[in-house]
Amino acid sequence: MRTWTLRGTTTSYVVGVPEHGLWAQLVAWGPGPVEVVGTEHFVPRADVEPLEYGVRGVRYTAPVELVVSGPDGSDELRPVFTESSGEASRDVLPGTELELVFRDDVRGVRVGLHYLVVGDVVERWVSVRNGGVDSLVLQRHDSAAFVVPVGNTVKYLWGEWNGEFQQASVTLPRGRFTIGSSQGITGHTYSPFLATDGDVAYGVQLAWSGSWEMTADVDSTGLLRIQAGRSPSSLGTRLGPGETWRSPKAVGACSAQGADGLARVFHAYERALSRTRTPRVLYNSWFATEFGIRADHQLELARRAAGIGVETFVVDDGWFVGRSDDAGGLGDWEVDPAKFPDGLDGFIAQLRGLALGFGLWIEPESVSPRSRLAREHPEWILRTPSREPILIRNQLLLDLSRDDVAEFVWSTLDRLLSTYDISYLKWDANRPRLDSGDVRRDVDGLVVTNLYAILDRLRAQYPEVCVEGCAGGGARVDLGMAARVDTLWPSDNTAPLDRLRIQDGFRTGFAPHLMSSWVTDAVGTHDGRERSLDFRFHVAMAGVLGIGADLSRWSDDQLKTAARHIAQYKEFRELIADSNVYGLSHGVQYVGDRRSVVFLWETGDGNVRGTLPARPRRVPLAGLDPATNYRVGDETYPGSYLLQVGIPFDGGADSRCVVVDALD
Ligand code: DGJ
Repeated sequence: MRTWTLRGTTTSYVVGVPEHGLWAQLVAWGPGPVEVVGTEHFVPRADVEPLEYGVRGVRYTAPVELVVSGPDGSDELRPVFTESSGEASRDVLPGTELELVFRDDVRGVRVGLHYLVVGDVVERWVSVRNGGVDSLVLQRHDSAAFVVPVGNTVKYLWGEWNGEFQQASVTLPRGRFTIGSSQGITGHTYSPFLATDGDVAYGVQLAWSGSWEMTADVDSTGLLRIQAGRSPSSLGTRLGPGETWRSPKAVGACSAQGADGLARVFHAYERALSRTRTPRVLYNSWFATEFGIRADHQLELARRAAGIGVETFVVDDGWFVGRSDDAGGLGDWEVDPAKFPDGLDGFIAQLRGLALGFGLWIEPESVSPRSRLAREHPEWILRTPSREPILIRNQLLLDLSRDDVAEFVWSTLDRLLSTYDISYLKWDANRPRLDSGDVRRDVDGLVVTNLYAILDRLRAQYPEVCVEGCAGGGARVDLGMAARVDTLWPSDNTAPLDRLRIQDGFRTGFAPHLMSSWVTDAVGTHDGRERSLDFRFHVAMAGVLGIGADLSRWSDDQLKTAARHIAQYKEFRELIADSNVYGLSHGVQYVGDRRSVVFLWETGDGNVRGTLPARPRRVPLAGLDPATNYRVGDETYPGSYLLQVGIPFDGGADSRCVVVDALD
C-alpha cells in the first residue's frame, strides 16, 4: 500500500491507496486500528474497508459518497488511482495540499480527493471532472467521509428558533443516523457538526450554508464513518463534457483531550479562518424598540449606551421605507424620512458626537411582496415554476442564483456603505429557501456561491466594516460563514439560563469570537428562573459583548453595574476572542499566555439552598502551569493548587468573573 502522512500540530492523518488502486483508505488517525482483518463474505472487499471516499461501482452495499450516472442510465464508475500531487514527499506538511487522483476510462471521469491540514484540522474536498463526450449527472456528491477509529456514540447539535445549539447524542451499535437541512440555509434544526466523545474525541463539520446532509454510519465491523456533503437535488447536478464540479470543504479534527479539546481545535481553526479584530461593545436597539424606530428615541438610548461604555450603536430592522412591521419594505433599502427627519447622515453625526460608531441591519436576500422591488422585478422572486411563491414571515426570497440579483444585492450594500459612515453591518436572513426555482440549474450551489462572493467582496472592499451574520437567530452558523463574517448571532434567545445553555452547545463547535451575545431584559422561554444582572453580563462577556436592553428603563444602579462590567470586559476582550477555552464544572475559563479569565455560573437551585449542612464549593481551574504562581484578587496561589483545589464559588452571588494572572 502507498501511504501519505498528513501532519497536524499534534495529530497525524495517514491515508493509503492499496496496490489495486481502486480506493483510498484511512490507515491511522489517532489511536485505534482501522484495518479490517479476516475475509469478507457476500460483499465486495470495498464494502468492509475503511474507505476515504466511496464510489458507486466500487462499493455497493455500504454507504457511498459519489454516484454519477450517464446517458445509458448506469450509475457506476470504477476510477483507478493514477497519481498524487506532491509526489516527491509522502510526508505532507501543514499548508501543503495533497490530491489523490483516480480515473475512470470508460466514462472519462477524473476524481480528485483533496487534503489540506490546518493546525489539527484536516480539510477535505473533491473535484469531479467530466473528460468524456457525454453529459453526466451527479446523483450524490459528498465532500468526504471521515472514518472515526474510536467510539460509536455520536454527539450532535439540534435546535429550533429561540432554542438553538442543544446538545444530544445517539449510540449506534450498528446502523445509520442522518441530520441535515433541506431549507436552503444551514438551519436552526441541526448544525453541520457531528462528533464523538471519550478520551479521544473526533469531530466533523461541513463548510456549507445551503442544504446539506451528514450521516454517521457504524458498519458491520463496528467502525464509525461520517459522511458530509451538500444535499443531492431532485434531478441531480448536470456535469457537461469538459466541466469540473467542486465540493465545499468538510473538515475533520481529533483531540486527545476529549470533547473540550476538540472544541479548542475547532476554535483555533476558526480563528485562522477569520481576521483578527478587537470585539467592540455594541448596543442594538431591536429588543428595546422593534419596528418603532424614532431618531430622537434612538439617540436617547445612544446617550445612555455611550454613558456606560458602549462603542457602536446598531439600528436594527425597521429603518427603511415601508417597514412599520414585518409585512413590508424588504428590498426597498431607502432610509425612512419619517423615522430619521434629519436623514441618516444627521443621525450618524449625532452618534459620532457621542463617540459612537454606527451599525446598520439589513436583510438583502429577501423581498416583501408589497415592496417597489417586487413590483418592478417580479422575475427576481424565487418560485417553483407555475406555483405561487411561499410566504414565510410575510416575505419572499430573491433568486440569488441569478447574477443580476447578486449584482443588485452587492450594489445595495455598496451604495449604503459608500453613502453613510457605517462601521458595522448586521446581515440577517429570516426565512428558509423552500421554493425550488429552476431545478435544471444547481440553485442551491449558485445561491450559496453568490452569497459567499458578495461577503468576500464586502470584506475586500470595506475591510473596516465589521460584519455580523444572523439568520432569524442562529440559522446560518457554519464554517462557510465563519470564514466570511466577524461574528455570528447564535440565537434570539437572550434570557440568562436559556442563553447559557445555547452558548454551551455553540462552544462545542464554534469559537468565542463568533459568539455575539447581548445583555437584555428577556425572560426565559425554556428556563424562566431569574438571574442577576451580573449573571447576564457574565454570560454575554463570555463572547462578543453587546447590550440589547431598553436602557431608558434602567435605573442608575443598573447603569452603574453595566458600566463596571463593560469596563472590565474591555480589559480582557482580546483574550476572550483569542484564547483556549476550557469547560469547568460550573463555568468556562479562557486561558491566555499570562492571564486567564474565569466565568462561573450557578445554574441549579443552589441559590435556594436549605438548612442542611453543606461544604463550601470550589471549582478546579484548567490550562494553568502547576509550577507557576498566580494572583487571584489579593491572594497568591500556586498553579497546582488552582488546578487541583480551585477557587471558591459559594453562597451569595449567582455568578463570578475571576481574573487569574501569572506572577513569575
Ligand atoms: C431576526 C434577528 O435574529 C433579530 O435579532 C432581529 O434582527 C430581527 N430578525 C429583525 O427582524
